[in-house]
Amino acid sequence: MSGADGLFERVPFTDEIAVLRDLYPRSVWPGHKNLGQTAKFWLQRHDMFRELGEMMTTGAGAFLENQDDPRAFMGWLAPRLNLFLRELHSHHHVEDVHYFPIFRAADERLGRGFDILDADHHTIDALIHDIAGTAMTLQTAIQTRGEVRRAADAFAQQLGHTTTGLIRHLDDEEDIVVPLILDRTEVKLGV
Ligand SMILES: [Fe+2]
Ligand SMILES: [Fe+2]
Repeated sequence: MSGADGLFERVPFTDEIAVLRDLYPRSVWPGHKNLGQTAKFWLQRHDMFRELGEMMTTGAGAFLENQDDPRAFMGWLAPRLNLFLRELHSHHHVEDVHYFPIFRAADERLGRGFDILDADHHTIDALIHDIAGTAMTLQTAIQTRGEVRRAADAFAQQLGHTTTGLIRHLDDEEDIVVPLILDRTEVKLGV
């Protein structure tokens, strides 16, 4: 999706897209009786993606500043990045094939929002590929004592860009999914 709805162009969802957000603002989510196990687990996954993205972006920035021990940095980064990319890919897949169709069917007014979120998944999946590519280039540069600084810079930029878009996506997705769950309950939605 491009234009005003694109992941890097848009502002937070308007009330016409997030139609239930006004009724169930974020402040009521944590203590709401309809916030069930599925929603809690799903929100925890989102928080894990936010934390990992920010942790790695900060770590890559610090490495760029001092470039102390490239192998140690790669040893720190690799398991976190692998977890982040792998889990993000499978998270999107489960949303695409399982959750989004159920939520779309529950309230047709949310269709536009899910169209945008679905397009985000394609955008982010392409970025996942790009991050993996820049990480491989960095690893090769470290192993061969090549242009480590240039490779680390490209990786950090790609990661920062992706994390910015991902946080926009997570925030918007929560703004339409959580109010729907609170409104209908997980049992009635079948999730
Ligand atoms: Fe998503
Ligand atoms: Fe999600």
